[in-house]
Amino acid sequence: MLAHKDMALVPLGDLPHRSGAYRLFRDVRERTAMLLTDTEAWGIYASAKRTARVPGDIAELGVFRGGSARLICEVKGDRALHLFDTFAGLPSSGDSDTRFQGGSFASSLDPVRSYLNHFPNVHFHVGLFPASAAGLDDLRFSFVHLDADLYASTLAGIQWFYPRLNRGGILISHDYYGSADGAGKALHEYLADKPECFLELSGTQVAIVKL
Ligand SMILES: C[S@@+](CC[C@H](N)C(=O)[O-])C[C@H]1O[C@@H](n2cnc3c(N)ncnc32)[C@H](O)[C@@H]1O
Repeated sequence: MLAHKDMALVPLGDLPHRSGAYRLFRDVRERTAMLLTDTEAWGIYASAKRTARVPGDIAELGVFRGGSARLICEVKGDRALHLFDTFAGLPSSGDSDTRFQGGSFASSLDPVRSYLNHFPNVHFHVGLFPASAAGLDDLRFSFVHLDADLYASTLAGIQWFYPRLNRGGILISHDYYGSADGAGKALHEYLADKPECFLELSGTQVAIVKL
């Protein structure tokens, strides 16, 4: 391994079971946008895959152009995938959001729908979350990806998904920069009295495994 300052190069030849996934990540980047590093993409891909034996659907809050959703599609098996986004960019940011601003990451639904249309059981919930989850109260999940950047959106996401995450299920959030900034602040506030540990993964990801 080559190490320089805060960076490390990891030889994928030592991890042959990952090399196909890393080729997929390159292909996804060539066809659409994906706002994850390769090691973050691996976190999503592997967790979505390894939760196959946990009962429940999969959800992503924060789809943008469908890059991370595509990774999940590749490994979701028969599970339903619920995709939540305004497809009009981030809603207004608040005082806790120092990195992201309302209106960023505008996308549109049709290209994402056609990019994913050969995968069965994919459901789009367009609009502002959590209003866009109305009528879905009975759903339960095995894997959830929160990638909504903002304090209010992440708080709404953890409040809605945590009680619906089955035991052994995994929730990963992007944009975790510690407990002081938007998404991290929301997660710390909501999970303060819950038993799950924060597992800091690669890049800006943090995960919990539901107990
Ligand atoms: C960084 S992008 C997602 C990137 C994507 N997961 C990827 O890896 O390419 C964040 C997305 O969250 C969506 N978003 C944030 N808050 C939301 C809310 N309350 N309701 C619906 N969508 C929201 C934005 O519209 C934006 O598309």
